[in-house]
Amino acid sequence: MLKTLIKKARCYRKFDESVFIDIEFLKDIVDSLRFTSSARNAQPLKYIISTNKEMNKKIFSTLKWAGYLKDWDGPSAGQRPTAYIIILRDRNISTEDFSLIDTGIAIQTVMLRLAEEGFGGCTIAAIDKERLRKILSITDDTKEILCVLAIGKPNENIILTEMKNGDIKYYRDEKENHYVPKRPLNEILYKVID
Ligand SMILES: Cc1cc2nc3c(=O)[nH]c(=O)nc-3n(C[C@H](O)[C@H](O)[C@H](O)COP(=O)(O)O)c2cc1C
Repeated sequence: MLKTLIKKARCYRKFDESVFIDIEFLKDIVDSLRFTSSARNAQPLKYIISTNKEMNKKIFSTLKWAGYLKDWDGPSAGQRPTAYIIILRDRNISTEDFSLIDTGIAIQTVMLRLAEEGFGGCTIAAIDKERLRKILSITDDTKEILCVLAIGKPNENIILTEMKNGDIKYYRDEKENHYVPKRPLNEILYKVID
């Protein structure tokens, strides 16, 4: 059921780094992004994919993980992502805000494809973009880095909970279970017109 897959498609920040990801799988995921909706059908998004160990190490060094977990610096060696999809906006095609909506559609599509195959990812927008541009040799100013999807075989237990007292911050318990509070249906369902 798609709803089950949506619940499984969490933001994972710890992975089993011994599990290899086939570059052909990433290519096929990007191929499926060609068929997602796009404002004006402009299709301004472009993608860089990496499963290369040396490159992954460099990409990782530009990412900021889990702002709410103040005493955690991100995944340690052995738990790091084994693949990345970097989403770029081609400003020659569009600079409209609508292209950020296209980006959300692309992100969720990737997350669902990963979840379906037993993989997982985390969207990272807190990036040292200038350094990442250099690392990826992006010299063309019209190619703008929007976000990075860090990908791997999930290796953490994530529990969805109902938000209490307006607190939306994710947190971990002493066993490293990761809890993600979600707003209740009656809060987000603003109006029902029957
Ligand atoms: C647009 C966007 C940007 C995000 N940026 C970061 C980030 O920079 N670092 C990070 O650790 N998580 C980032 N996240 C992951 C969110 O923290 C995560 O989605 C949220 O805690 C809810 O967890 P869930 O995805 O499992 O529902 C981002 C998510 C989105 C959608």
